[in-house]
Amino acid sequence: MKINVEQGFKTLVQEVENILLPVEGKVPEWLSGTLIRNGPAKFEVGKEKYNHLFDGLAMLYKFSFRNGKISYTNRFLKGHTFKSIIETGRIVYPEFATIPKSSLPHRIFLNATRHFTDNASVNVTKIGESYIAMTETPPRVEFDPDSLRTLGRFHYGDQVTGHLTTAHPQFDYDKKELINYITRFSLTSSYNIYSIKQGTTKRQIISSIPVKQPAYMHSFGMTKNYVILTEFPLFIDPFRLLLTGSPFVDNLFWKPEYGTTFLIIDKNSGKLVGNFKCEPFFAFHHINCFEDMGNVIVDIVSYKDSSIIKSMYLNKLRQGDLLLPTPEIRRYYLELGSNKVTTHILSKDFIEFPRINYRKCNTKNYNYVYGVSAHKSNGFSNKLVKFCIKSKSYKYWYKENNFPGEPVFVPMPGACGEDEGVILSLVIDTINCNSYLLILDATSFSEIARAYLPFAIPFGSHSQYFE
Ligand SMILES: [Fe+2]
Repeated sequence: MKINVEQGFKTLVQEVENILLPVEGKVPEWLSGTLIRNGPAKFEVGKEKYNHLFDGLAMLYKFSFRNGKISYTNRFLKGHTFKSIIETGRIVYPEFATIPKSSLPHRIFLNATRHFTDNASVNVTKIGESYIAMTETPPRVEFDPDSLRTLGRFHYGDQVTGHLTTAHPQFDYDKKELINYITRFSLTSSYNIYSIKQGTTKRQIISSIPVKQPAYMHSFGMTKNYVILTEFPLFIDPFRLLLTGSPFVDNLFWKPEYGTTFLIIDKNSGKLVGNFKCEPFFAFHHINCFEDMGNVIVDIVSYKDSSIIKSMYLNKLRQGDLLLPTPEIRRYYLELGSNKVTTHILSKDFIEFPRINYRKCNTKNYNYVYGVSAHKSNGFSNKLVKFCIKSKSYKYWYKENNFPGEPVFVPMPGACGEDEGVILSLVIDTINCNSYLLILDATSFSEIARAYLPFAIPFGSHSQYFE
């Protein structure tokens, strides 16, 4: 099926600062904070083109809520990568699926000396007092949360190094620390799990797990006591990557014969306490993980293989070839003390860009998942879904020719119920060629307001709400 969502993959050049958005409906007065979204927004440099949706140059978008009004700013993230293309008019740094047209020795030099791209287009978070944009290469870029102006490269207060990380850190509310991991390529590579105490910038290594073939993992799971690395059989060949100077994606190899492995790491001792093998699958996003009666439960958006990655080349998407592989929402039970894994399908509908009431429910048993899904199963996300795990029931928001992005749950102050709050999602309207911020009542999943933007915004990655 051909679907025209051209605007979603088109370069946006306009930057605007602090404009008041026209609103239809009523924005809740209690909503007082800022939604910051990240995503690729420039897909060519002169005559040179980026190949993949993950390659485009990062743009930050800010929606500020105050007294029922919404103000809006968007600005390119101007790190080294952005500055280099302005200075040279060419692509200088390798991205996920695009390499610069420079010589092979130059590309090998960039990799060997860890001159990674800082095109941090995937997500945002706060470390210490700094707001930072993140991608899967190690450099983080700091920005001003008011103006969205780029402040420069973010420096951790330590000497930890590595080659590949995630833009999906987790936050441990008990210990008040941020958790993430970084993979270091070597003859024996390693996954290095670290924590950063709230208010500080120093990474403390919790555990270093040696690994023969490092896997590509976009996110990881966490429970009260454990970090879960879900090691898909999509392995990186670091030496091939280094020596051929080829795009990162061309050095990922799907080896289903290895199956998928859940590595369970104790957050306190740093010990590997579980190593569970199951059938091969691939995922970008963990939904939530928690412990229950000696089991570690992992809810995850599971694809039967890694072909989803190759389905996101821009030339394919722009031709309207949007029949992407659809994932299953699976729950895995990992029985600690044994190697037993059982699994079942949690949701009959697919859900991507899964979000939960993170503050209240992350690492705990929970009931509601929000995400994007596909109307009439046409394979491309065009509706929002709220899934109730207990009752196996669904609520939807759908409007023809409108394409919503990741739904972010914001709890109402003093809320008791898990779903008391609102959902914020940026939607592309392909008929009117613009975007709007949609606000849904999270309980009823009905629309309560929308705020219109002056132009269409390309499909983005992830957003975070800051009080
Ligand atoms: Fe992601």
